[in-house]
Amino acid sequence: MTTRRLVLSRGAALVGAASTGLLLPQIARAQSNKIRVGLMLPYTGTFAQLGVAIENGVRMAIGERGGKLGGREIEWFKVDDESEPSKGVENANRLVQRDKVDVLIGTVHSGVQMGIQRVARESGVLSLIPNAGVHAATRALCAPNVFRTSFTNSQPTLALGKPMVDKGLKKAVWITWKYAAGDEAFEGFRDSYTKAGGTIVKELGLPFPNVEFQALLTEIASLRPDAVACFFAGGGAAKFIKDYAAAGLKDKIPLWGSGFLTEGVLDAAGAAAEGIMTTMHYADSLDIPKNKQFRLEYAKAFKMQPDVYSVQGYDTGVLLSQGMAAVKGDIGNKQALYKALETQTIDSPRGKWSMSKAHNPVQDIYLRRVEKGDNKVIGVAAKALSDSGAGCKMAAA
Ligand code: PHB
Repeated sequence: MTTRRLVLSRGAALVGAASTGLLLPQIARAQSNKIRVGLMLPYTGTFAQLGVAIENGVRMAIGERGGKLGGREIEWFKVDDESEPSKGVENANRLVQRDKVDVLIGTVHSGVQMGIQRVARESGVLSLIPNAGVHAATRALCAPNVFRTSFTNSQPTLALGKPMVDKGLKKAVWITWKYAAGDEAFEGFRDSYTKAGGTIVKELGLPFPNVEFQALLTEIASLRPDAVACFFAGGGAAKFIKDYAAAGLKDKIPLWGSGFLTEGVLDAAGAAAEGIMTTMHYADSLDIPKNKQFRLEYAKAFKMQPDVYSVQGYDTGVLLSQGMAAVKGDIGNKQALYKALETQTIDSPRGKWSMSKAHNPVQDIYLRRVEKGDNKVIGVAAKALSDSGAGCKMAAA
């Protein structure tokens, strides 16, 4: 099926009528009391796997809670956003204006998120961010109807600098995709690494989602830093890890990163990933009963191993379920719903977390090392880390 919009739980006639615009959304709504949930995620491109993992997590959490929200059945709508920022507003409006979703869950890419943020602020639709870490969404452009269940881009890297310096790695090269996520991840790294006494000898970058790393790896080899730190994710991360090893750098210059580097890619990267050190708000081996149970059930349901994206999707489903239960399905009762979403504790596979005033998770960041194909916890690199929420009026209140 190539259509980018899938209506999953309606009769075929209704699907046909709605997608040709013959049926007014109001009529469709009057016919059912269903909650309309929109998923705007990448299902193609370098972040395709991330979109699938998030959707799996959302469905798993809601499924475990009886498959309804506040007692109401769900009608799902999907858009593949292709991680294409230039189509962000248009794709969000497909869900909000055309499909009249009650809640929009999305997305992965920070640039695309800016489009969703605009539509969310203009329309007032409930917006749940299951990944994209763009600072503005929970800083200057924060909004009462926008909640993030993942991280800000600098949260993982704010915990990265100190453990590197503690290991005696005092001169580093930074490398990333040049877009909001990479630039903001750099901010966290720069602040933590320089504060701990490290020196960044060079910042390297390439446009998203380019994976022609060769010239940059040659430059790293000639710079001979103590370590390399980076932000990459998805298919591009797997290629970076493999190219880094193939260039002969793996055993010479330790590779560190924001933990996305080693999420969902360990099978693809194989031996090239062993030993990579990262910081992240999740780790496969976390010794928390909730994590063990989650990993077993996810693997059983989806025949694949979960990763941080699955966890973030799961937590999005949990948050939405708990919020909708609190208002007994009355999603129109915005004041009560937002209050409920703000005050939930999420019992997550990552450990329990709560919302900051700017609507971003306050969470522990773990130091991990790739060992035998797993992200193994080494320790807690930052306890209950909160994003600054700088410029968010709700945070100042
Ligand atoms: C982002 O664009 O915000 C982003 C994408 C992938 C990640 C993390 C952040 O793994």
